[in-house]
Amino acid sequence: EQAHKGGYDHFMIKEIHEQPRIIRESNSTSIHSGVKDAELSGILSLDPPPSILILACGTSYHAGLIAKYLVEELLGLSVNVELASEFNYHRHRTPEALAIVITQSGETADALLAMRRLREHGTKLLAITNVPGCTASRLADETWYTGAGPEISVAATKSFTAQLKVIYRLLLSCSRLERRDFDRLTLALRLLPSAIQGVLDNQLEIRSCAKYLASCSGVIFIGRGLNYPIALEGALKLKEVAYIPSQGYAAGELKHGPLALVSKTTPVVAVLGRDTTHDAMLTTLREIKVRGAPLIAIAPKGDDGLDGLADYIIPRPEVDNLVSPMLNAVVLQLLAYYTALELGCPIDMPRNLAKSVTVE
Ligand code: G6P
Repeated sequence: EQAHKGGYDHFMIKEIHEQPRIIRESNSTSIHSGVKDAELSGILSLDPPPSILILACGTSYHAGLIAKYLVEELLGLSVNVELASEFNYHRHRTPEALAIVITQSGETADALLAMRRLREHGTKLLAITNVPGCTASRLADETWYTGAGPEISVAATKSFTAQLKVIYRLLLSCSRLERRDFDRLTLALRLLPSAIQGVLDNQLEIRSCAKYLASCSGVIFIGRGLNYPIALEGALKLKEVAYIPSQGYAAGELKHGPLALVSKTTPVVAVLGRDTTHDAMLTTLREIKVRGAPLIAIAPKGDDGLDGLADYIIPRPEVDNLVSPMLNAVVLQLLAYYTALELGCPIDMPRNLAKSVTVE
């Protein structure tokens, strides 16, 4: 087993480190296969626009939330994203033209049940999965593989960023995408692997922050826009592997309830991008600071707005904001990993959790 860990202490950290390579490889190789229906992704380019539903569970659901932002921003289409487990209780609805099902294992019972129901209603199914030949790929009309290779650690890491990568590739394949956005995204994706490597090579701040988080009994994660789902994912990672009660919120929702939890002993981890949400994020951070909560900010290097505001700043390389969720995700994976390591948790196999949940 030690050999398979490639010299790392755990599969989770090994898999975190594989991400630059996986993303670089899928930049150059084709990941589109298993087509039963000619170019189903072409549906995204239809006029009038089709109705689109994204279904997923757990970490894959967070990838779905990011996909919604991207499809709406770049293709101008509206998208519904739902937890597959909840979708299965919805009775009355007009079936969408296209459902994109995101599932690492391709065997999650809730996702498969949703796929079977949608098929009966004539919805076309596009699966994004990591496991060739999985049940989801057999139920789908078309499958896009994430190509992350086997993921052993129960907590999803490389499969998540690989899912995001496929979502960007899907966008790039759409004729609806404007030329300048195509060029912008292509360049951003080309530069991304070295930015991720930059995070992996500079873990000093992440490790010292993890030491601090290991002493906390609760943590709040916040983000806005594209990085709101990353706040959810950061909180999920920390609770999964370090067993610290953690909750992710849209920063704007803090004042509608969660602010009551903010205190000197409840740190807030803020995920920032360099985009239109930045000023609103700083306003929220000031509100938190006034209440005395320790503030940890993950932000592009040289964000002056954070000086004197954040207690810990985890600077990450500058990337195009469109791909910033992938980079921020890696920071939060490392933060969860080192916090769990500090606490001596069984990182690869957290209690009560399974890699693939094949029961409803
Ligand atoms: C389990 C795993 C999670 C995963 C979720 C959805 O709960 O522990 O890491 O995100 O299932 O799995 P899927 O294979 O459908 O992406």
